[in-house]
Amino acid sequence: MDSNTQPIGVFDSGVGGLTVVRALMERLPNENIMYFGDTARVPYGVKSRSTIETFTGQIVDFLLQNQVKALVIACNTIAAVAGQKVQKMAGNMPVLSVIEAGAQAALATTKNNHIGVIATNTTVNSNAYARAVHAHNPDARVVSQATPLLVPLVEEGWIDHEVTRLTVREYLKPLLVEDIDTLVLGCTHFPHLKPLIKAEAPQIELVDSSTTTAEATAQALAAAGLLNTSNLVPDYRFYVSDIPLRFQTIGERFLGRSLGQIEMMSLG
Ligand code: DGL
Repeated sequence: MDSNTQPIGVFDSGVGGLTVVRALMERLPNENIMYFGDTARVPYGVKSRSTIETFTGQIVDFLLQNQVKALVIACNTIAAVAGQKVQKMAGNMPVLSVIEAGAQAALATTKNNHIGVIATNTTVNSNAYARAVHAHNPDARVVSQATPLLVPLVEEGWIDHEVTRLTVREYLKPLLVEDIDTLVLGCTHFPHLKPLIKAEAPQIELVDSSTTTAEATAQALAAAGLLNTSNLVPDYRFYVSDIPLRFQTIGERFLGRSLGQIEMMSLG
């Protein structure tokens, strides 16, 4: 197979990475995509670094065996603690990460250099967003808040619900005290909460790492001469390690279209 027509490998702890797939489909409509969601072992956001590294190694092995041409880490938690492992396994292949893309977009957006991040416990504990921001601008201030309750609320579809509004309000309090002008939605699920967060904090700019990652992927593929210029209808493949109840419904909400055929693949 010509390397340009090989798929982009996108992966996540579960269903959330489909927000990144959706953005990739919009930004790069010619590209073939192979997605892996570790639905049997989700959530990663409360697991230890070593467990996440082991699981990530298995996912990346699977995608590399399937001849992907680039890897997109759609899961913030994986990017936070296993990003370097992915990079090592990928060799010279382009590797894109929601954290690097989000950090750069936050720096391009902020005017007062006070950036807030909301994410899972593991992502916040890793300090990965602060490190990524400080690599570009050591003077920027990064304030992070773990917001674990928001993941199940989004999966429940409560994206415009009073319970979610009050939860968001509570979580935003310590960030607003720090006078942030930019908030990174540092978890695959949070782009769904944009309207609600915007209503709670209209003065704050939101950084959606799904669109910024899609843009970074487009640039990396172009730089590597790997863009797919074929006019064939793109091939989308979705692999998961379990098909739990409501997977189809939740997945299609995240993807914004039908998932078509989903294939089961057990790892480990
Ligand atoms: N995909 C994860 C993230 O972006 C959220 C779900 C999980 O905890 O596994 O951090």
